[in-house]
Amino acid sequence: MNYLLFLKINKTKSILNLLCLSMVFFVSNAAQAESNAAQAESNAAQAESEAESDKAESEAESDKIDNLVNEALNGIPDLEKGKALYRNCAACHTPEGWGSPSGRFPQIAGQHQTVLLKQLADIRMGNRDNPTMIPFTNSLFARGTQALTDISAYITQLPMVPHNSIGRGMRLEEGKQLYADNCKKCHGDNGEGEAEKFYPRIHGQHFDYVLRQLQWIKEGRRRNADKKMTKQIKKFSYDQLFIIADYVSRLRPDKSLVAETHDWRNPDFRPGFMTAPRAVDRYR
Ligand code: HEC
Ligand code: HEC
Repeated sequence: MNYLLFLKINKTKSILNLLCLSMVFFVSNAAQAESNAAQAESNAAQAESEAESDKAESEAESDKIDNLVNEALNGIPDLEKGKALYRNCAACHTPEGWGSPSGRFPQIAGQHQTVLLKQLADIRMGNRDNPTMIPFTNSLFARGTQALTDISAYITQLPMVPHNSIGRGMRLEEGKQLYADNCKKCHGDNGEGEAEKFYPRIHGQHFDYVLRQLQWIKEGRRRNADKKMTKQIKKFSYDQLFIIADYVSRLRPDKSLVAETHDWRNPDFRPGFMTAPRAVDRYR
């Protein structure tokens, strides 16, 4: 055979080979891509169905907790048991339930029982950024409905602190107006809230705690927060929140709800009980 012809044929052959190879490559690539797409699709479908079932699970969980809260509200409280359970809370919230003046721990004494139960449930569900309390709410909910009835009934009847910490007293008139226009219809003339509607008492609460909650509501960190309230609070500046919190911290609860003196100590606890600092003199 002519050497040149041989080369030519070989060349054509190898070109054909190359073509074939790339065809195979192309086809197999396409097949690969197709199967990748199918895999991605099935992954997405799986993720979706997992998300669906997560959602269903968390909805079921939240229904379960709503039922528990409703049952707890209808239960007959045993205050002795409530007192024993409250020992687990007193190190932070203090034996009196007055919290700490720095606002790190809120006052819970005297809060409506409905609100106490709803907040505990929300913390338990992870709707509030409150990791310090989660182990305590977990074990409380694990004890069941009666424990929730007992502890919330105990806390709600504790007298409130006579001198909560307050703000600096700047622009109080403005605070009053902002409160009247935006907060009064739910939290009441005097910050007393409304038990049946789960509107909390916010009077008598420590300034820094109120301020932090308002900031957290603005920032969406209290996912349980009332939708209407959140919308309102989002439009306020941080300055305005400061002014409102200052005004709110000066609203006084009814005398019948407050301890007679600042030195009142919860007789259910021995005097040396270790607790968060409760002196508030520097704020008066
Ligand atoms: C380790 C400290 C700690 C312990 C123990 C603790 N809490 Fe709290 N609790 C907190 C903190 C901190 C907050 C406020 C978190 C925030 O800023 O949102 C809080 C908030 C709350 C609130 C919400 C108050 C409100 O005004 O919305 C309730 C109700 C409450 N606690 C009840 C309890 C009960 C009942 C127990 C015992 C079973 C308990 N806590 C044990 C630290 C504690
Ligand atoms: C539509 C009714 C409504 C309005 C209006 C409203 N709130 Fe509330 N607020 C609630 C409800 C319900 C809760 C309790 C559930 C939650 O966490 O959102 C709450 C919770 C709070 C809390 C947290 C209390 C605690 O103990 O942790 C603060 C502070 C508060 N509101 C302040 C305000 C201020 C200030 C305004 C006005 C700017 C306002 N709210 C307007 C319904 C309302």
